[in-house]
Amino acid sequence: MLPRRLAAPASTWERDVDVVVLGSGAAGLSAALACRPVRSVLVVTKDVLSAGSTQWAQGGLAGVLHPSDTIENHVRDTLAAGAGLCDEAVVRELVTEAPKSIRYLMRLGAAFDPEHGGTDIALTREGGHSHNRIVHSGGDQSGAEVQRTLDESALGAGVDVMARAFALDLVMGTAADGQRQVVGVRIGQTNESGALVSVGTITARAVVMACGGYGQVFASTSNPPAVTGDGVAMALRAGLPVTDIEFIQFHPTVMWRGADATGQQALVSEAVRGEGAILYDAAGERIMEGVHPQEDLAPRDVVAAAISRRMAEAAAGVDDHVYLDATHLGERFYERFPSITAACREIGLDPATDRIPVAPAAHYACGGLRAGLDGRTALRGLYAAGEVTATGVHGANRLASNSLTESIVAGTRVGRDLAWELPDAVRPDPDIQAAANDPMAAPLLHPSRLREVRSVMSRHVGVLRSAESLASAAGALGSIAHTLGTGNDTAEPSRRSWEGTNLLTIATAIVAAAQARTESRGCHRRTDFPERRDVWRTHLDVALDATGTIDVTGTPRGS
Ligand code: SIN
Repeated sequence: MLPRRLAAPASTWERDVDVVVLGSGAAGLSAALACRPVRSVLVVTKDVLSAGSTQWAQGGLAGVLHPSDTIENHVRDTLAAGAGLCDEAVVRELVTEAPKSIRYLMRLGAAFDPEHGGTDIALTREGGHSHNRIVHSGGDQSGAEVQRTLDESALGAGVDVMARAFALDLVMGTAADGQRQVVGVRIGQTNESGALVSVGTITARAVVMACGGYGQVFASTSNPPAVTGDGVAMALRAGLPVTDIEFIQFHPTVMWRGADATGQQALVSEAVRGEGAILYDAAGERIMEGVHPQEDLAPRDVVAAAISRRMAEAAAGVDDHVYLDATHLGERFYERFPSITAACREIGLDPATDRIPVAPAAHYACGGLRAGLDGRTALRGLYAAGEVTATGVHGANRLASNSLTESIVAGTRVGRDLAWELPDAVRPDPDIQAAANDPMAAPLLHPSRLREVRSVMSRHVGVLRSAESLASAAGALGSIAHTLGTGNDTAEPSRRSWEGTNLLTIATAIVAAAQARTESRGCHRRTDFPERRDVWRTHLDVALDATGTIDVTGTPRGS
């Protein structure tokens, strides 16, 4: 049984604000900043402000900024990458706002790289883009510049921050018309090492969920350690369905540092291929030639799948990595990609002269909590923006560098709307203060077992999946859930046990959706159903039922 609430002691403190934002990446801080002028705003982060994925984004932000490019081109590329599951109207909304959002960041102080020797902003290309339309900063440090800009702007505007505060569960109330409404969040305050310090309740007129994705559900990922799906798991526990969760984007080129390397791996930006780098297998044969018209700059799902197939063939006996050759850039590589240069040097490579060993790794959650680009969800009082959501922009496979743009556009819209109007104030339901003996709180996952969850996911639910591999994953995850809290596995409430429990919940949900989708589409690839099937041009929802079981809903079209 998966928990319907995270186990924690009773609340000992309370705080009330207009808007509480859960998460401190691009989406959360954009929302906080946009509503701050007229609202009291508290950003809650389980770590420090920059601990999420935004800080690590290399490529940049996609937006039509060159006269030779058009909104239509960007819409078309996004829809093509999304493999039939994008919502075209939402894509058009995003793409239309994208250039404005980039100019807004610049007015806030973001410094994007200029064209070599000029003053115009440099625009680069990544997989799936037909035109150069990605702005970047510090070469490959685009996310860090976005994070810095938003940190300074939000703090400067008076946004309050509660650090080392873990969002456990939503607090519900009942509005005058009898509707359920989110009215706050239960918080576990921890120390630097993640040990529980106290539990409290923050009440608010609006809760904005911007907790990011769940790359850490896999053994190898480009995501930092904090990316553990806390928002999606919380939404499931609140009874909300989560959509498209089977579509996890694997970045084709994460630096390969040995068969045993786990956790966050150094990204080798797709912009490196945008600058002309080529993928080779260990036998020196090109990988993308003849696979797709855009070859090495094909959409990410296509490249990751091609690499995985080539690794499975074990060219020259190598079955766990391939090579990226960017040596044509020579020493220009150092200036254009300083972070990747540093990561190469750490393993004794010189990217100007050596091919870089790479392999696919989990990178981005295309699915999540269903929300509009204005952040509205199915629950009154709950808003969501960024990677935690499924807005219809990404479909079955996100187009590179659309995500930071989406976070700025959606986050800012949520914040602006909340500045204009807040939901009515509603009191928490009396029974929500349930604590240690809460019957809906199943035992927590012992942190020592998280490695098993991750290795099951990487072994059986990676780039290529099958009925057999998914059944193995479902069996292994089911037995982990079954033994929660037994034997030596009893876990005390702490950041690690809450994160682990969230990841187990999400892993179970991903596997259930991946089992149900009997086709290959976007970044969900089944070796037993290798074709895209028209009947599956539909979304699957997963939900956590009252018994702590994951249910999948959604049926093939026409059945
Ligand atoms: C990259 O730089 O390759 C990552 C960009 C992205 O994920 O959008």
